[in-house]
Amino acid sequence: MAPAGLPLGRALLIFQLLACCLLALGDLARGSLLRVEPRDPVLLAGGTLVVNCSMDCPQPELLSLETLLEKVPAGHGVRWAAFQLSNITVSSQVFCSGYCNGSQMTATSEIMVFRFPETVELAPLPPWHPVGQNLTLSCLVAGGEPRAQLSAVLLRGEEELSRQPVLGEPAVVTATVLARRSDHGANFSCATELDLRPHGLGLFQNTSAPRQLRTFALPGRPLRLEAPPILEVGSSTQVRCIAHGLFPAPEAQVHMVLGGQRLHPTATSRGDTLTATATAHAHHEGSTDISCNVALGDESRQARKNLTVYSFLEPVVNLSEAMVAERSTVNVTCMAGPRTQVMLDGAPIPLLGQPAQLQLHATERDDGRHFFCSGTLEVDGLLLHKNTTVRLSVLYGPKIDRDKCPQHLVWKEKTTQVLRCQAGGNPAPRLQCLQEDSGNVVHVGIPFVVGLNYSGVYCCQATSPMGSATLPVEIDVRERNPARVSIVLGVLATLGVLTVAVALMFVFGSKSRRGSYPVARQSAFVPLTTMTPQETEAEEVP
Ligand SMILES: *[C@@H]1O[C@H](CO)[C@@H](O)[C@H](O)[C@H]1NC(C)=O
Ligand SMILES: *[C@@H]1O[C@H](CO)[C@@H](O)[C@H](O)[C@H]1NC(C)=O
Ligand SMILES: *[C@@H]1O[C@H](CO)[C@@H](O)[C@H](O)[C@H]1NC(C)=O
Ligand SMILES: *[C@@H]1O[C@H](CO)[C@@H](O)[C@H](O)[C@H]1NC(C)=O
Ligand SMILES: *[C@@H]1O[C@H](CO)[C@@H](O)[C@H](O)[C@H]1NC(C)=O
Ligand SMILES: *[C@@H]1O[C@H](CO)[C@@H](O)[C@H](O)[C@H]1NC(C)=O
Ligand SMILES: *[C@@H]1O[C@H](CO)[C@@H](O)[C@H](O)[C@H]1NC(C)=O
Ligand SMILES: *[C@@H]1O[C@H](CO)[C@@H](O)[C@H](O)[C@H]1NC(C)=O
Ligand SMILES: *[C@@H]1O[C@H](CO)[C@@H](O)[C@H](O)[C@H]1NC(C)=O
Ligand SMILES: *[C@@H]1O[C@H](CO)[C@@H](O)[C@H](O)[C@H]1NC(C)=O
Ligand SMILES: *[C@@H]1O[C@H](CO)[C@@H](O)[C@H](O)[C@H]1NC(C)=O
Repeated sequence: MAPAGLPLGRALLIFQLLACCLLALGDLARGSLLRVEPRDPVLLAGGTLVVNCSMDCPQPELLSLETLLEKVPAGHGVRWAAFQLSNITVSSQVFCSGYCNGSQMTATSEIMVFRFPETVELAPLPPWHPVGQNLTLSCLVAGGEPRAQLSAVLLRGEEELSRQPVLGEPAVVTATVLARRSDHGANFSCATELDLRPHGLGLFQNTSAPRQLRTFALPGRPLRLEAPPILEVGSSTQVRCIAHGLFPAPEAQVHMVLGGQRLHPTATSRGDTLTATATAHAHHEGSTDISCNVALGDESRQARKNLTVYSFLEPVVNLSEAMVAERSTVNVTCMAGPRTQVMLDGAPIPLLGQPAQLQLHATERDDGRHFFCSGTLEVDGLLLHKNTTVRLSVLYGPKIDRDKCPQHLVWKEKTTQVLRCQAGGNPAPRLQCLQEDSGNVVHVGIPFVVGLNYSGVYCCQATSPMGSATLPVEIDVRERNPARVSIVLGVLATLGVLTVAVALMFVFGSKSRRGSYPVARQSAFVPLTTMTPQETEAEEVP
């Protein structure tokens, strides 16, 4: 019992001195007559306890309890006295004392107070932590008693990473772990263990809220940016950005920019490789750049490429007139944009950016001629080509090609024939052949069956708005079986019959002498079969 007004510390000192004296005095009687119950109890801070002092003595006197704690009598008997102690917040000793037969006795009990930690908290983890770097876990533990029985455990999931005593108030317990890829998404936590098993109580755990770790790997090697060095204004191209060794690749952020304008890439990941593809449109001529940025965790990598946007007007070939008459002058001009080198077939090579010119006197051979002009533009050391051709049309009068029109034809009656003949000219002329006598028409290039009336001289005429040309063609149609051939055939047939008659007479004559031989009769007919009129006619065909 501390006198009122004394500070707690001093009261405690006085109490301890007093306890010493009591122990010294009552040493003899200890353990025998006076008992304290419960002995050395362990209880949760703030709890209540009834302490019973009892003495094996016929007439015990002045049984009392010495304590710093608030005590309230809780009943007594002849040989005992009980006291209730409440709001026990600190560990302390209590002493029972009493007199028996005139001598003082004491007994002591150690009250141990325990309390759970008020705070067990794992310090926040960084939002992203690089793989292969040490991560320091820090756990804050406030409160908790007795410290000798308290330890802190740092956990990765269920796995114990470190176990340490809790020192200081509040205590900070740390552990270092090497972050691995497999730690991505792992839950870290911190727990305290108050082990009161030696005191007949259990093991009490308090666990912090888990914190999830996100690990990442972004190697130092540069990104690969695939983009063409030049791009024509108004066109578009595919741009690819490739990053290797990313972890976790699907969580990487990709940004692509073309000359300050954001592109909208689509990213796909496969293993540790991320590929982003975007379509870049070139809107303005000039030098610009294209960049790709891949961010993961709190780091990023960038790649950049220069891009030249150019405009290239394809060469324009201009003919002074697209359709000219023969012998007139035609000017051919080919021009393209500035800085473009044009080259026109047959024309001298002009200066850079200047048009190429050609003058010609149109002839029949120039009809259908193609003028080819190529334009070459150099952009950043690269040569680009664009080509144009234009066709010239020269108007000229009809011409019948003697080489392609046979002027003397011999045909056989009733055979199918085609009259072949060609005429040139621009515009293409109409070709017609008329029989001079009858004025009948023979169609050129169309098959027909020849009659004898087709014989004669024809006038083939090619006509176009540019004039006309004529060529005489003679056709001779021959009869199919002329009388001459029939006479020859008749003579031959007569000769044949005579030969057969002579042969038969010879055969029958010899038969009457030697008897009948059927084999010989068969052979007698052979010459008849060989002399068919068809074969005779075939020999006559020229
Ligand atoms: C105190 O102890 C005595 C003797 O052991 C017992 O008879 C008595 O009932 C106890 N009193 C209380 C309140 O427990
Ligand atoms: C218990 O004791 C503490 C100081 O040790 C005091 O602050 C608290 O008010 C007390 N509680 C009760 C219920 O008496
Ligand atoms: C108490 O003391 C008296 C003498 O003073 C003695 O005769 C007696 O035996 C003692 N009783 C016990 C229980 O020790
Ligand atoms: C991580 O910490 C351990 C000791 O805790 C040390 O041996 C190791 O070199 C550290 N590793 C890195 C990458 O800092
Ligand atoms: C970590 O905890 C979250 C919820 O708090 C859970 O969704 C996740 O699966 C846990 N991760 C592991 C690896 O257990
Ligand atoms: C600590 O754990 C005990 C039981 O193990 C529980 O009764 C107590 O409320 C816990 N304390 C905190 C702060 O969670
Ligand atoms: C890109 O162009 C700038 C000038 O505009 C030049 O300094 C730089 O070297 C070029 N980069 C590459 C990779 O060619
Ligand atoms: C082509 O040239 C002719 C005359 O030289 C000119 O009248 C015409 O405008 C030119 N056409 C083009 C497309 O330049
Ligand atoms: C062709 O060009 C020449 C000059 O180069 C010019 O005198 C002439 O009139 C041009 N002819 C035509 C048909 O445009
Ligand atoms: C244009 O012409 C040039 C030179 O004749 C040739 O090398 C190039 O392949 C051509 N380009 C195209 C697209 O036809
Ligand atoms: C020949 O006569 C036939 C009718 O028998 C006639 O159709 C044809 O046009 C004539 N041909 C010529 C070239 O006279």
